[in-house]
Amino acid sequence: MLPRSQAQKKGLCVQRLHRTLRPGPYTSAMATNRKLLTRATVASGTVLLTLAPLAHGWYSAPFTAQTHAVATDNSDASRAALTVLEAGGNAADAAIAAALALGVVSPSSSGFGGGGFAVICPPTGGETNCKFVDFREVAPQSLTVERMRASTAPRASQVGGLSVGVPGEPAGFVMMSQRFGRRPLAVATAPAVRLAREGFVVSPFLLDRLGQEREEIANNPAFSAAFGESVRNARMRRPRLAQALERYGREGERFVHGALANAIAETVSRAGGVLTADDVRAYRPIERRPLSRNVFGHTVVTASAPSAGGMIVLQTLTQLEALSSRLGIAPPGSSAAFHVLADGWRQSFDDRSRYVGDPGASDDTVSEALLAPARLRRRHESFSPSNARATVVISPANDQGTSHLCVIDRDGMAVSLTTTVNLAFGSRVVIPAMDILLNDQIDDFSIGTSGNNFGLAIAAPNALQPGRRPVSSMSPSVVLRDGRPVACVGASGGPRIATATTQVIANLLLHRMNVEAAVAAPRAHHQGAPDVLLLEPEVPEDVRVGLLARGYTVRTSDSPLAAATAIAVEGTGPTRRLFASSDPRKAGGAPAGR
Ligand code: GLY
Repeated sequence: MLPRSQAQKKGLCVQRLHRTLRPGPYTSAMATNRKLLTRATVASGTVLLTLAPLAHGWYSAPFTAQTHAVATDNSDASRAALTVLEAGGNAADAAIAAALALGVVSPSSSGFGGGGFAVICPPTGGETNCKFVDFREVAPQSLTVERMRASTAPRASQVGGLSVGVPGEPAGFVMMSQRFGRRPLAVATAPAVRLAREGFVVSPFLLDRLGQEREEIANNPAFSAAFGESVRNARMRRPRLAQALERYGREGERFVHGALANAIAETVSRAGGVLTADDVRAYRPIERRPLSRNVFGHTVVTASAPSAGGMIVLQTLTQLEALSSRLGIAPPGSSAAFHVLADGWRQSFDDRSRYVGDPGASDDTVSEALLAPARLRRRHESFSPSNARATVVISPANDQGTSHLCVIDRDGMAVSLTTTVNLAFGSRVVIPAMDILLNDQIDDFSIGTSGNNFGLAIAAPNALQPGRRPVSSMSPSVVLRDGRPVACVGASGGPRIATATTQVIANLLLHRMNVEAAVAAPRAHHQGAPDVLLLEPEVPEDVRVGLLARGYTVRTSDSPLAAATAIAVEGTGPTRRLFASSDPRKAGGAPAGR
């Protein structure tokens, strides 16, 4: 292993210290420290961004609230949700506000041209009252595998018109607002409109991403008109997007099926795609039953298909519970603990590629079968504490897009929402009159030539077909105790979403860490294929050696293993407190609350 740099050593020491801390008040010294860092980062973006992943756990501050809290990966988006909560909105209204704001201030990750999932749990009533809102993109009606393969464009499933799935956010948030919100859609859109119109300080994360897009800015006029300015100025304004979002807030579905549908179709067609305005008009978000299982005295409610993320989280937590009771609880961060997790992820990612596809309008019976207790028991019985089991190799890829957000309101309603344009800046196709960036979610299908960007195994049930949703790893989750939401967890980072979410939930429920420590603790990742166990650089050498000795191919990850956001609730009535954390791995995130 390479010698650790001073910055790594310092990050590691302070991170260990943080693990022992209980959440306390957000002190002004901490706030000043964070502000200084944010300012310095904006001023000299690239330098500090290089340090940010190494420094996680180093400058993050515990965040405490008494009535309601929001955790996103951008402080402007957290404040947008807070404004809506304080204007009488509930967690659903606030989650919409945060997601729309993220689309303005963090367009490389998510936005109006993308899609996602949300788990929504009311204050009481348990998992049977929780809903899973699926606003995932779908493949256009004329997009076939043959059409895709006939394209001579390089990386056709990742860049350009053919990579664009029918966006789900616009129709999804209209439905979420009507079904679960308390205030009109215009209230939820207002903070995003304000940010786009009046401008915002470009986050270090976006600055870094834009720094990697010089070629796109030079050669793609619509992309450059939308985002080019920010490379020169620390502030960015997006007036055309402000106008579109304002109209969306006022007109809702009428705007989506009219002006927006036409603009998307025209833009995609000019970029060589086959998506039509009728595809946009035919798009329907789906309210599904979430998956849920009881583990560690709590109920974890999470994503069902077309995401495989929830199945992976639940299979691995179930394995962790079973093996902890058989073999004893392995200390968090030890090689024994990572072995149990890595083994669980290997098996469940294998299930993902063999069995999980879009269930259409039906319930997710496949994931339910994959989670059948007898099946998992057989798997747990053959686990060896001292040896890994083998799989196949394909090369891995970094996290690129996606944002996760959590909101818990004063009544106790929780919304855990993950949204994405897929890879950084999605398809790079921008609607010029609206500055809306379109997704490249088609790459999440198993197109069968080279696997997708994330190096996931080729998967027959996830084949590209017109009208289908691609399988995802997004894992928005809510944890219940006695039927009430007590935590909200999720992450961004491709397949690493499911493994990071598993670890944060295990850190909270099994290892009893506070939420900040649970998010900051060094992580591991295994996705079956490639057969490589990735460890963050902060994982100590003895742990790495312990995993090598069990037969894993171990690599130190050169990028953070996902970025998580989480909220935990403790106590009830006057002693109720909310603790929130935005992963310090993604510079610029901060929770908000009161
Ligand atoms: N676009 C990444 C995912 O949905 O897993």
